Amino acid sequence: MSRAIKFMLNKQLDAIIKEEKNTIANLSNASALLFDQLPSINWAGFYLWDPEDDELVLGPFQGKVACIRIKHGEGVCGTALKEQRSLIVDDINLFPGHIACDAESQSEIVVPITKNGKQIGVLDIDAPIKNRFSEEDRSMLEEFVAVLLQYINF
Ligand code: SME
Repeated sequence: MSRAIKFMLNKQLDAIIKEEKNTIANLSNASALLFDQLPSINWAGFYLWDPEDDELVLGPFQGKVACIRIKHGEGVCGTALKEQRSLIVDDINLFPGHIACDAESQSEIVVPITKNGKQIGVLDIDAPIKNRFSEEDRSMLEEFVAVLLQYINF
């Protein structure tokens, strides 16, 4: 992903969400923006942490119907949440405990969302091809999450 696309995507996000305070509306549009703009992906969305059950729960997304709850530390999403770091999985078949929602998915990136030390959830993107996500994507999506955190009151 070029620097220009990265800049445009995060600028568009900023323009779309800065005037709106509703979290569901903003996360919905954020997932639509990613799904529409990123090439070669088949799912983009959010899992939000439910502190009562210590699980991630499906949030706004674009793509096929997905699993609803993911335990803390399970799958790629739960692992990224637990380890509090972005994970790139080049081949989901090689990730122990990967949770398959769409049989077409081959690779995945998950970025944790944390505000002032509080776990909020994760941004999850799946691709129907292996090796889809690069370090450039990681930095672009970490910035995307930083823009979200600037405006959204979780
Ligand atoms: N593959 C994820 C589950 C969510 S779906 O990809 C939308 C995981 O292993 O956590």
